[in-house]
Amino acid sequence: MTSRRGFLGAAGGLLAAAGTVARAASNQPVAGTEAFFGPHQAGIVTPQQSHCFFAAFDLTTDKRDDVIAMLAAWTHAANRLSEGKTALPLGDDARVPAPDAADALGLAPARLTLTFGFGPGLFIKDGKDRYGLVASRPPELADLPRFNGDQLIPAKTGGDLCIQACADDPQVVFHAIRELARLSYDSAELRWVQTGFISKPGDGSTPRNMMGFKDGTQRPADIDKSVWAGNGAPAWMRGGTYLVVRRIRMALEHWDRTKVSFQEETMGRHKYSGAPLGLQNEFEPLGLDRNDKDENPVIAENAHVRLANADRNGSADILRRGYSYNDGANFVAERWPPWRQGMEYDAGLLFICFQADPRTAFVELFGKMAKFDMLNQFTTHTGSGLFACPGGIQPGEYIGQRLFEKI
Ligand code: HEM
Repeated sequence: MTSRRGFLGAAGGLLAAAGTVARAASNQPVAGTEAFFGPHQAGIVTPQQSHCFFAAFDLTTDKRDDVIAMLAAWTHAANRLSEGKTALPLGDDARVPAPDAADALGLAPARLTLTFGFGPGLFIKDGKDRYGLVASRPPELADLPRFNGDQLIPAKTGGDLCIQACADDPQVVFHAIRELARLSYDSAELRWVQTGFISKPGDGSTPRNMMGFKDGTQRPADIDKSVWAGNGAPAWMRGGTYLVVRRIRMALEHWDRTKVSFQEETMGRHKYSGAPLGLQNEFEPLGLDRNDKDENPVIAENAHVRLANADRNGSADILRRGYSYNDGANFVAERWPPWRQGMEYDAGLLFICFQADPRTAFVELFGKMAKFDMLNQFTTHTGSGLFACPGGIQPGEYIGQRLFEKI
């Protein structure tokens, strides 16, 4: 029987030898698909799909070749999955394990994108340079500091690698992660996962988060500058970006007992229209210099949008691409706070953002927000991760090839 490791080696060899993968033959996007190959990885500036399944992995092998074989197998399968195919071709050899769980057979590709990221642990873990990559660790991939108020759960934090699967179908994203995880059995194990969703209003307006506010109004003015690693980046990161993920639990019971006017003061925007406080239109500039008749700022000093605004933070711009999450509810025995009804939602925001340099973007922004943002009384960060997403993949290449081969 073919061992899994044997298969991985074979998949890596197949890519290297043939110099091509399935999609390369036509390179024409199939209807309802997002191109897998290109100058940038998909799933970053791709119009946001309705479902996300985010997975972080720990590497369990100490062999560099195992990691390469796994990445080659992931690349091969991810390209097929993006086209709506099974992860591996379905065969009729009953002696080998099922090549694909087949639960997504017959489903549309649903614009599936698979975005790969490398965490600090790929470069160095417990002081060990496991794969000879430590000299290639980019300074931008510096560990995130501990932020004020962080209550990170180790089982929802970190990871040596990540895959963000996004699609317009919840089963398609689960299937994709499941298949890629199966291909990594000998080399990596799942560390944590998180599902997420956004529902887009039929009129095309901005979707709302669980707090009932439009979320995603502001986007960086210059995506090229704010999101993509520049020409100074190592070859493997050119056209790449850095992903920060935060699992943010919302105290929805508390929020729901708060007046809309206070909610608006907290955000700095009107709840129903999404317009900056005191204005009419969602897409008007924030107008942070506006004062009321008593000379107090209309948008408070500690309102979320003021603290998050790039112009007030040395142009620290990020591309947000988050999803709501709903992990059910926890039973909570006797304890404060008084609005508790025995059950508390474990729901909130799977915050995901992309940027050229997290040190001058997320860390700069959130460092201040974690201390002063009015929103903090309603949110708790329980999970976190930082990953370098290499530049786009070309036909015949595997993800991270330019890093491993130091091209
Ligand atoms: C549960 C947590 C959060 C909620 C509910 C939330 C909600 C919102 C809302 C409603 C807006 C205004 C609409 C928009 O422009 O999209 C906004 C803007 C923004 N948020 Fe958050 N957010 C959260 C966490 C974060 C975090 C952790 C960051 C990290 C830096 C962040 C960064 C931003 C930025 C950069 C803006 C745009 C500010 C501007 O107008 O210039 N948010 N957020």
